[in-house]
Amino acid sequence: MKIAVLPGDGIGPEIVAQATKVLEALARDGLPLEMEQAPIGGAGYDAAGDPLPEATLRLAKQADAVLLGAVGGPQYEALPREKRPERGLLRIRKELNLFANLRPAVLYPELVGASTLRPEVVSGLDLMIVRELTGDVYFGQPRGIEVRNGERVGFNTMIYSESEIRRVAHVAFGIARKRSRRLCSVEKANVLECSELWRQVMIEVSRDYPDVALSHMYVDNAAMQLVKNPKQFDVIVTGNIFGDILSDEAAMLTGSIGMLASASLDDRAKGLYEPIHGSAPDIAGRDVANPLATILSVAMMLRYSLHSEDAARRVEEAVRKVLAQGLRTADIHTEGTRKVSCSEMGDAVVAAL
Ligand code: NAD
Ligand code: IPM
Ligand code: MN
Repeated sequence: MKIAVLPGDGIGPEIVAQATKVLEALARDGLPLEMEQAPIGGAGYDAAGDPLPEATLRLAKQADAVLLGAVGGPQYEALPREKRPERGLLRIRKELNLFANLRPAVLYPELVGASTLRPEVVSGLDLMIVRELTGDVYFGQPRGIEVRNGERVGFNTMIYSESEIRRVAHVAFGIARKRSRRLCSVEKANVLECSELWRQVMIEVSRDYPDVALSHMYVDNAAMQLVKNPKQFDVIVTGNIFGDILSDEAAMLTGSIGMLASASLDDRAKGLYEPIHGSAPDIAGRDVANPLATILSVAMMLRYSLHSEDAARRVEEAVRKVLAQGLRTADIHTEGTRKVSCSEMGDAVVAAL
């Protein structure tokens, strides 16, 4: 099983190094894994003048799965949009047709005190956000900045075709069927035609899943309900931009954005696995980032792309164990626990494996 490893920028290389330690440990135990690294994002631009160098895309296409750190940084912000790190990430998602982005927000019991919300609001939280990843205002045309009537205007297009909505709906209903059989579709159908179609298609697809209860919620209310009573949700399905925002919000329910893993899948479970957070330029290069979101993304890779449920469980169990041992990176550190660095956390997970 070949894994393309794309560390990216900022804390990307630091967190990915911990995740590859975990993969190497599993390989030593007999899992047939092979890893190859390539640059993406700002690192791709620095190496080849392109945030998604051709060789990186080729490697990702050949591999059974892709592990990605994060991209972006202040030094790249003045580049033309096509050359910016973020465009590399958007292109690889599109090129690999990774339309279904699974972002599970799970609160580990040991981290109840690390959340900014009261324990009774978040304890036991286990929700899955299914975010559409290759459409919406992120990719819609036309887009640009131009002069109209003597002033500059900036514009983007929010657009979804029914086939795009239908395929992510099937993924979400399939997941809901295996969990609590409740699915909440989040949009803004009271204002946007794009959302009106989203809701219609969700209702149409729901006829294939009579055992799943579909509900609808406007995104502004969903943002509020997520902090008021997050446990009312089990599976949420939503579009690209709403999912981006709501998943960062959901991350804080689990104690830190450094805990949230993700899987981006096509229709055959070929996948790209990455933490939901960014390159954290404010803490990069100091060995203090939380690598657990990336390590938990490895668990998702083992489960969804490499079909090694046992290995996935071992990794999740190892994470649980180090948290129970009281080890914490700075972002989840609370009184009475032991603060460790990014690399110490990686070593501890390997030891716990
Ligand atoms: P960010 O997620 O990088 O950071 C937000 C805050 O969370 C920062 O204070 C950061 O220190 C903290 N944080 C993030 N990950 C952490 C971790 N693992 N451990 C501890 N703390 C962590 O978001 P931002 O600051 O808005 O964006 C920074 C750059 O990252 C930008 O260039 C942005 O475009 C890019 N970005 C990339 C991705 C990605 O590659 N998937 C995602 C989001 C943002
Ligand atoms: C994420 C990031 C990306 C997104 C950016 C960096 C393109 O915020 O993975 O959540 O908006 O999808
Ligand atoms: Mn995001």
